Amino acid sequence: MSEPIMSFDGRVAIITGAGGGLGRSHALALAERGASIVVNDLGGALDGSGSSASAAQKVVDEINGLGGTAVPNHDSVATSEGGKAIVQAGVDAFGRVDIVINNAGILRDKAFHKMDQAMIDAVIDVHLKGAFFVTQPAFVLMREQGFGRIINTTSASGMFGNFGQANYGAAKAGLVGLTRVLSLEGASHNVKANAIAPIALTRMTEGIFGELAASFSPSSVSQLVVYLASEGCAVSGNVYSVAGERIARIITMESHGAVIDGLTPEAIGEQIGQINGPSVDELFEPRSLDEETLIIAQALSGEPS
Ligand SMILES: NC(=O)c1ccc[n+]([C@@H]2O[C@H](COP(=O)([O-])OP(=O)(O)OC[C@H]3O[C@@H](n4cnc5c(N)ncnc54)[C@H](O)[C@@H]3O)[C@@H](O)[C@H]2O)c1
Repeated sequence: MSEPIMSFDGRVAIITGAGGGLGRSHALALAERGASIVVNDLGGALDGSGSSASAAQKVVDEINGLGGTAVPNHDSVATSEGGKAIVQAGVDAFGRVDIVINNAGILRDKAFHKMDQAMIDAVIDVHLKGAFFVTQPAFVLMREQGFGRIINTTSASGMFGNFGQANYGAAKAGLVGLTRVLSLEGASHNVKANAIAPIALTRMTEGIFGELAASFSPSSVSQLVVYLASEGCAVSGNVYSVAGERIARIITMESHGAVIDGLTPEAIGEQIGQINGPSVDELFEPRSLDEETLIIAQALSGEPS
């Protein structure tokens, strides 16, 4: 028996960075199911430079043209005033905010030894502080109304590491910590927070997937986002890898460890194997973004991993 259709009638969703790529796809998917949407986008370049009102407006026109309901917002997520204004745009247009999807993002890749402060600040400001600035005013409303869904966009780069992305990886890993704390603080108010680590063909990833590019459609990622935003969402505090039609939970685990009498660095060296724990055959621990991508590619192409 198929489940009842997930409807978002009466729900209001804010999607940051929704002028293109994944955010646009999430906005269209939620609008199609009846949610009213705030399409936020600063409209800048991939490195965060510049701005333009047309990116958000185009997606709003698209949604409204399809019979949905959306308003544009062009504030930057990277300041506290911007975050407040984005949430206020939802309240002004639709009277409430039920769903926040922190999706806005930029890249300033560089090997760590060459990364300057502007590259560190810009990336952490948009991805990590941006999620704080947008979510906090919305969280206050969500607690009061006893309903909220927060979806943060992390990355395999933050979960597993990726060369040249110290700024981005650290910001993305920070979002996992934020997600877990919000899931605890929101639990008694029916506010659920989860994170996604997507892989999708957008301007951010153009040219890097080769033959598999067609498998990585943003709309696959949006199916998970719609589920996590829904009233029936059964999970909170989780992180999901989503790439094409493969979804997996990324799990933080701890070994049973070792208790060492008279702990010394030498004793730690001797027992490092036991501290690390046995390798669990059924589990796969990616040691880099590349390793995770390889497993995904194998799974999608039907090869045994
Ligand atoms: N595409 C992937 O495979 C992939 C993988 C892992 C994570 N992500 C994450 O997914 C999210 C969406 O990325 P995408 O691939 O769709 O790329 P994208 O560049 O198409 O989308 C990012 C959007 O964020 C907007 N933005 C940037 N700075 C902003 C700011 N200060 N305020 C408001 N909007 C701002 C941009 O204008 C852009 O439209 C990002 O957080 C990215 O890090 C993407």
